[in-house]
Amino acid sequence: MPQESDFLLFAGTSHRELAQQTAKCLGITLGNIHIETFPDGEIGVQILENVRGRDVFVLQTIAQHPNSYLMELLIITDALKRASARSINVVIPYFGYARQDRKDKGRVPITAKLVANLLETAGVTRVLTLDLHAEQVQGFFDIPVDNLLARPLLVEAIKTLLLKNPIVVAPDIGSIKLARAFAESLKIEYAVIDKRRVNAKQVESNALMGSVVGKDVILIDDIYSTGATLITAARVCRQAGAQSLIAAVTHGLMRGKALEESAIEKIFLTNTIPLSRDTIPAQVEIISVAALLARAIESVALAQSISSWLH
Ligand code: R5P
Repeated sequence: MPQESDFLLFAGTSHRELAQQTAKCLGITLGNIHIETFPDGEIGVQILENVRGRDVFVLQTIAQHPNSYLMELLIITDALKRASARSINVVIPYFGYARQDRKDKGRVPITAKLVANLLETAGVTRVLTLDLHAEQVQGFFDIPVDNLLARPLLVEAIKTLLLKNPIVVAPDIGSIKLARAFAESLKIEYAVIDKRRVNAKQVESNALMGSVVGKDVILIDDIYSTGATLITAARVCRQAGAQSLIAAVTHGLMRGKALEESAIEKIFLTNTIPLSRDTIPAQVEIISVAALLARAIESVALAQSISSWLH
């Protein structure tokens, strides 16, 4: 482990618990920072450590209140830049606004590119994130972006269930690559559902490509938002003869309430976004990404390879 004086890790207000867990894995304490909201709603920040000439990491997840957390991250970055930090590495476990990554209809923004521009302009020198919605978003930056994978953690969790006849199912065409990677890691087959999104809250799933008859289905996705995608996929698999259903998802935005009534018996979800045991459905098991983030921070701080251990 690097010495505490080698680098500093600060936390924004979005996910202090994960930042603390990550710091613990690194054997350090979080850097002191004062963040306040002025009476008019503006955010004020003061870094309470000397950062001159130091490599600094800031953990901030862009979810739940994405607009204020993004703005807060930009303001923290500005403060660090003006305090002469040597490098400003932002650790963004959930990269919000990434889903709007292309102009698929007229007169819409590309928010993923806008956020990339904002971060770079503020002074960020590296982004460490996890399961970006689309890997191409890395190309929106002209600084290094390390896109970590939650899959190895989720695969280990799935293995503990000792499923007898498992198959991975992608709930939509966009998840095929992810499904193939899970299937390869688990050494099993995969199937795909053809999803059509009706609007932001509703999806329709029709054709199932592959057979799930008598199978223990493992639905995978990068994001659980309203739950419409997974719950509809679960219904399709059940109607197609699936024996049992579980799910493994990286980012739990948890904006819907229907999971309890669905046929999904268990869902492994990482803590890239704060999840409160009191408010999430009983079938959710939380998998911490703290050790993964810590290892990546350590690799960056020591200028070591990430790809050599990330798979
Ligand atoms: C879509 O492209 C994503 O991979 C997820 O499938 C989607 O964001 C999940 O959203 P929801 O839970 O609202 O269906």
